[in-house]
Amino acid sequence: MPLPEPSNSASRRATVLLAKSSITGAATREMEDLVRRLQAMEHAGHVAFAFSEQGTPSLRETLTALADEGFDAVFILPLLLPMEPGFRVWIDRAVHRWQAEHPQRRWPSVQVGEPPAALAGMDALLRDMAASMSSDPAPTPASALPTVGSLIPTQKYRVLVCQGGPCNNAGAALVWGHLRNEQKRLNLRTAGEGTMSARTSCLGPCNLAPVVQVFPEGTYYGGIDEAGVDRIVSEHLLGGRVVDALAYAPNGAKQALRPPADAS
Ligand code: FES
Repeated sequence: MPLPEPSNSASRRATVLLAKSSITGAATREMEDLVRRLQAMEHAGHVAFAFSEQGTPSLRETLTALADEGFDAVFILPLLLPMEPGFRVWIDRAVHRWQAEHPQRRWPSVQVGEPPAALAGMDALLRDMAASMSSDPAPTPASALPTVGSLIPTQKYRVLVCQGGPCNNAGAALVWGHLRNEQKRLNLRTAGEGTMSARTSCLGPCNLAPVVQVFPEGTYYGGIDEAGVDRIVSEHLLGGRVVDALAYAPNGAKQALRPPADAS
């Protein structure tokens, strides 16, 4: 897909390269390099990057910064393979929610481009990548395999973030990314009684998406967004108290999400 037309009026446009996650600094440096290379191209205009899951800046942080810089339109180029079927749906919902949380901010319009696999020229790119690989990869010598044992983690809490279809469509990637960023920022592995987290397949109550479950209690939380993650972190993981307003306990009957007004 071609880049959006260059700005030719008072309208200001930006392009955001969206990757999945950055667990180490290497992915961030790769994104910075891609931004530099794209920005050097004619008509590229302003280019930024973001991570849809773990890593900074998050998509929310990048869009907020672009809104504050006065951009009117943002074109998101996903670099995600595979791209979840509900990707556009959750981006749309998330952007609307962020806009509703800060109505005084003048938000740019947001458009999402095609995933890499759908782009013309991808075949030639894959061929070049394959040709650049060594045809005789060196096997890992048996002596290089680890022989030492592992410590059993002492952390009390386990946070499971559902990544099933309905939860992904409702923005589970944002929930996971925000949790991981907060986990790193607040040192949750060692803070309080310690927390570890993991992504899972369907946890069961899909109509409460996005769903998060916290052990050892096994507490189900439904309709979780970034603000919900913040409450679970501060009240449950650090404070030791279940967040009743967001929790759903088994009662033998089908349950639906409570209206946001009741979740205060
Ligand atoms: S997909 Fe998340 S609970 Fe089923």
